[in-house]
Amino acid sequence: MTIGIVGAGQLGRMMALAGYPLGLDFLFLDKDAGTCAAQLSPQLTGAFEDPKLLDQLAKRCEVVTIDWENVPVASMERIARTTPVAPPLAALAAAQDRLSEKSLFHSLGIPTNDHQAVDSREDLLRAVQAIGLPGVLKTRRMGYDGKGQAVLRKASDVESAWASLGSQPLIYEAFVPFDYEVSIIGVRSTRGEIALYPLNRNLHRDGILRLTRAPWHAPVVEAAARRYMRKLLAHFSYVGVLTVEFFVRRGKLVANEMAPRVHNSGHWTIEGAVTSQFENHVRAVLGLPLGDTSVTGHSAMLNLIGEMPTREGLLSDGRLHLHDYGKSPRPGRKLGHVTLLETTARRRDQRAATLLRKIDARKL
Ligand SMILES: Nc1ncnc2c1ncn2[C@@H]1O[C@H](COP(=O)(O)OP(=O)(O)O)[C@@H](O)[C@H]1O
Ligand SMILES: [Mg+2]
Repeated sequence: MTIGIVGAGQLGRMMALAGYPLGLDFLFLDKDAGTCAAQLSPQLTGAFEDPKLLDQLAKRCEVVTIDWENVPVASMERIARTTPVAPPLAALAAAQDRLSEKSLFHSLGIPTNDHQAVDSREDLLRAVQAIGLPGVLKTRRMGYDGKGQAVLRKASDVESAWASLGSQPLIYEAFVPFDYEVSIIGVRSTRGEIALYPLNRNLHRDGILRLTRAPWHAPVVEAAARRYMRKLLAHFSYVGVLTVEFFVRRGKLVANEMAPRVHNSGHWTIEGAVTSQFENHVRAVLGLPLGDTSVTGHSAMLNLIGEMPTREGLLSDGRLHLHDYGKSPRPGRKLGHVTLLETTARRRDQRAATLLRKIDARKL
């Protein structure tokens, strides 16, 4: 049985790594050759819009899913004419546009921050007037890892933000002075079975995820996050893994964005949960029973960004799990991650802090 995956990055690679033990095969589609998924699975190489490649993928696979949420919806629509696709196209479309994403949250009663669409300089001035400063101007589409964003702190930031981003549809939103950030990962199968992972606490630096700790003990916050996740899964009759990121301020959640796919803040589940998010995504899209999402300990996941510490250095801690995506280094690029597991949250937090300092100081 073959699962098709559009996009062949590290997420697809980890899906394949999770699916092979179940006896499954994978076929990727990506515009670049030499992707990190192609190091282990066959790949069709060419444009995401290429009808011939899309038809080939549809024909050779039982089901087709994504590793990148900006895959053109029209491409997935074409595949869906003959082959089941996951996530649902409506979820994919909503997640690709920050404005529709926020409207969706609003319509489902999921709190999100004040925002306005910005299509002109006048719109931006109006939005800043209405919402105030500080605020964040973001591209509506294609942003990731903090790219396509500008924080506006004072009136004079308006012009430079407009100059750098003004050529495309934008959204201006209130800056949330959050206490911390969390995410929740849920999964729903084609049979309607649902499973949720516990709450993740996330630390970002320069807009890029640096550290995730899970389970994060915040029962009230977690209960709200679970409720919102269930609303979203039900709304779309969702299939596969879904992630929602929130800001937490004074014990209340403000939804930031959702990702209709496995997520960086869930990488810890490979070692830290009975069944990883990757395996559960694969199970969900094939209509197999979902695996147990219980934790096996207290996990911390640290991203390896821009340059790789030495393999020897990382592995000198015999209890650290290394995932090297096989990518060439570039500033700001996610090259791999490490996960540590502890018996208590306190031990985990201490060990994660020490490891983060060492990685930052290039001591590994
Ligand atoms: N409105 C905001 N208020 C405060 N911080 C923000 C806001 N928007 C984004 N950020 C910070 O930037 C990070 C990345 O922004 P996000 O909207 O999640 O975009 P993406 O992850 O797609 O690049 C967030 O996790 C958060 O740390
Ligand atoms: Mg984000």
